[in-house]
This record gives sequence, structure tokens and C-alpha cells, in this order.
Amino acid sequence: MSAAEHPELNHPEEMIRVDFDDRVMTITLTRPNALNALCKKLIMQLNSALDQAENDTRIGAIVITGSGKAFAAGADISEMKNLTFAEVAEKDFIKPWERLSQCQKPVIAAVNGYALGGGCEMAMMCDIIYASEAAQFSQPEITIGTMPGAGGTQRLTALIGKTKAMELCLTGRMISAQEAEAIGLVTRIFAAHDLMKEAMATAHKIAKFSAPVVRMIKESINNVAEASLVAGIRTERRLFQSTFALEDRKEGMMAFLEKRPAAFKNR
Ligand code: CAA
Repeated sequence: MSAAEHPELNHPEEMIRVDFDDRVMTITLTRPNALNALCKKLIMQLNSALDQAENDTRIGAIVITGSGKAFAAGADISEMKNLTFAEVAEKDFIKPWERLSQCQKPVIAAVNGYALGGGCEMAMMCDIIYASEAAQFSQPEITIGTMPGAGGTQRLTALIGKTKAMELCLTGRMISAQEAEAIGLVTRIFAAHDLMKEAMATAHKIAKFSAPVVRMIKESINNVAEASLVAGIRTERRLFQSTFALEDRKEGMMAFLEKRPAAFKNR
């Protein structure tokens, strides 16, 4: 199957690239100049590719990867900097990101570089996380006056436990792929040049099995703590949106964009 058979996925303003190899769809984030920051347009394009994969019986597995130095460095700070609490609450900002976590087909994250903030959260929405030796992970939102808003406090805690999740989310500390694997965030690590080969091999292997059985296994594993996860993610998103009422949130994002330390005033 070739990309030419899917013209609807060839977007004029591409933030992603979609490739097909037998029964595997690969989605590559292609905003390397902004470290694949997850702007609204990128999320819309990602969601439409996921819809396409979901509706196409020829697709049995999906691989998501980044480009350049990053898998994704989080939500787009320049797009968020002027948002008000009223706007983010009314539009339920971040909700469209949930599409990935609702995908019924198996998704492998092939983390090639930075997976920060929303980028780390996006990886955690996937079913398997393969990382290159050079990958780095963090939930750095606190350093820009906000908090994880796409499931980070919930999924990270489920994966690595409360105290490790607390330390990472409360300090924004960046960790190596090796540490991420040791604490259970990452499934397996590969040399950078082997990452895609290994992700594709696993995707092809899964895609050859019975699609309904694959779907049932995914649904069953996702059922673990599903009810509390759904409630927790909703609460987290509302708390995240509430940070947009803080002067500190605005100061943190402006400071990042102006490349200076933030001066928080606790209000
Ligand atoms: N949003 C928008 N732009 C971003 C970005 C982001 N999340 N991350 C990086 N960029 C941009 C930078 O502004 C810079 O743009 P210019 O070239 O126009 O100045 C470009 O990408 C390259 O970045 P740096 O110059 O900062 O590159 P570096 O190698 O010096 O540093 C880095 C790399 C440590 C990853 C640093 O870019 C960084 O800390 N990025 C921000 C990470 C972050 O705070 N993410 C959380 C976002 S909030 C969130 O995700 C909320 C949520 O839970 C949903």
C-alpha cells in the first residue's frame, strides 16, 4: 500500500508525514524547527490520520515517531501563551488530544529524542514505548508555571508509582532513556539507528495476528484502572486549565519564549 492511495492524508501544510508499509501506518511528526511542539494543527492532522487508520481494515498497527532532535517537546507554548482561563475552560483545551488514547488499533511510540510535557504524555497514550538511547523524557510544565494536562500525572503515576511521578512532575527533571526504562516508563531501548527497524518489526508482527483478537487484548489491558483513569484525566485537565488563571502561568510561558528565567510571584 502506498501513500498515493491515501491522498486525503497528504496535507498542504504538513505537520506530519504518513507512510504505509504493508499493514503498518507510520506517522512522523515533521515540525523539527519547533521540536515537534504539539500545536492545534498538528493534533488535528494526527487525529485525522488515526481516524483513517481506524477505518481502514488494511491497517493492523501504527507507529508514531518524531524527527530531528525531538519526538515532541510538548504543547506549543507560543500558541498557549495568551490563552485565558475562560478560553481554555470553555473550549476544554487539550480534549482533542484524547483521540490517540482512544485508538482501538495498537500504537507504538518510537521515541527518537526529546519527549517532554505533552510529548511524554503522547508517548504514554501509546501502547508500547520504544526509545532510542539518546531519548530524554520529562514533565517540565512546572518550570513554565503550569502542570501536565494530557494525562501525565495519571499515566506516569500508573507506570512508575507515586513518589517517582511526584519527583518528576514537581521538579521537571529530565531523565535519560536508560532511567526511563529502569523505572518502567519505556518498554525497550535501542541504538538510534535500530529504533525504527525494531518498532516496525514489532508493528508488522502484531499486524499479522487476528485484528479482533489484537483489539480485544488492547481493550482488556486498557481496562485496568480505566474508571479511575478517566476520572483522573478529567480532573487533571480542569486543574491544568485552571493554571491559565495564574499570573505565574503567563510569566512562565513568556519567560520560556523570551529565553530568560521565570520570576514566579505565587499568584
Ligand atoms: N512550544 C513551542 N516552541 C517550542 C517548544 C514548545 N513546547 N519547545 C521548543 N520550542 C521551540 C523553541 O522556542 C525554539 O524556537 P526558536 O528557534 O524560534 O527560538 C526551538 O523550538 C528550539 O528550541 P530551543 O532553542 O529551546 O532548543 P534547545 O536545544 O536549547 O532546548 C529543550 C531544547 C530543552 C527541549 C527546550 O526547547 C525546552 O525546554 N522546551 C520546552 C519544553 C516544555 O516546557 N514542554 C512543556 C510544554 S507545556 C505542555 O506540554 C502542557 C501539557 O501537558 C499538555
